[in-house]
Amino acid sequence: MSAAPLGGRVAIVTGASRGIGAAIAASLADHGAAVVVSGRDADRLERAVKEMEATGASVHGVVADVAKREDADRLVDAAKQRFGRIDILVNNAGITRDGLLVRMKDDDWDSVMDVNLRGAFLMTRAVAKAIIRQKSGGRVINITSTAGAMGNAGQANYSAAKAGLIGLTKAAARELAHWGILVNAVAPGLIETDMTASISAAAREALMAQIPLGRVGTPGEVAEMVRFLAGDGAGYITGQVFHVNGGLYI
Ligand code: NAI
Repeated sequence: MSAAPLGGRVAIVTGASRGIGAAIAASLADHGAAVVVSGRDADRLERAVKEMEATGASVHGVVADVAKREDADRLVDAAKQRFGRIDILVNNAGITRDGLLVRMKDDDWDSVMDVNLRGAFLMTRAVAKAIIRQKSGGRVINITSTAGAMGNAGQANYSAAKAGLIGLTKAAARELAHWGILVNAVAPGLIETDMTASISAAAREALMAQIPLGRVGTPGEVAEMVRFLAGDGAGYITGQVFHVNGGLYI
């Protein structure tokens, strides 16, 4: 038995080659979990795996597009083969394709739905089956967004996908409780990552004016909430949405 709080547990973190996903993977590993990280870019994923290994983490990288069923199933199989079990799934992979609703292309809608919502469904289904077979219980943590709770102009697709992810979280929490699988969502506000790097200075200033804490958040601050939800201390929490947003949405 390991003394680390997540010792002996195996986690899958999707979209973990950078940003919030990388911080989550590092935090879970720091607390003793073996971590399977996925991403679409093989080189970037390999660099992320090497960085984690250098800290002594038990980590395995799998190139996979979560929006594709074969890839999602292969990712879950790889985790079982490499580490023998699965205990924690973090559905973090996400993309934005921003634009005004009246100008939004069908493909901008479809691709955002496919990655942010369908991907989470495919992964949750595959992991839930594995955990049910293990008879061990487990955790699913979905990374949604403030946009899913309050809507964001210019992000009809993303807001809808992230709101859908909250619905998926609540329904899955009710269904999977029977097998001891706890399902929660974490909704970050404005976090400093590649995803938000392209926001214009004017839009950033307007957003900052709405954040009572007066600053952007860090990936580590989101990871801290995920780590808590993955651990034993969160054993009586399911179907909830936790906002990590400096007060942007209260
Ligand atoms: P990022 O763009 O820096 O990283 C996203 C990761 O997801 C990358 O590793 C990317 O390769 C991966 N990814 C994208 N599509 C994928 C696919 N089809 N299959 C597998 N992996 C895929 O973004 P960031 O900021 O780290 O975002 C992580 C999550 O947090 C996303 O779900 C995002 O929507 C959410 N979020 C981010 C906020 C922010 O302010 N940065 C705010 C609220 C939510």
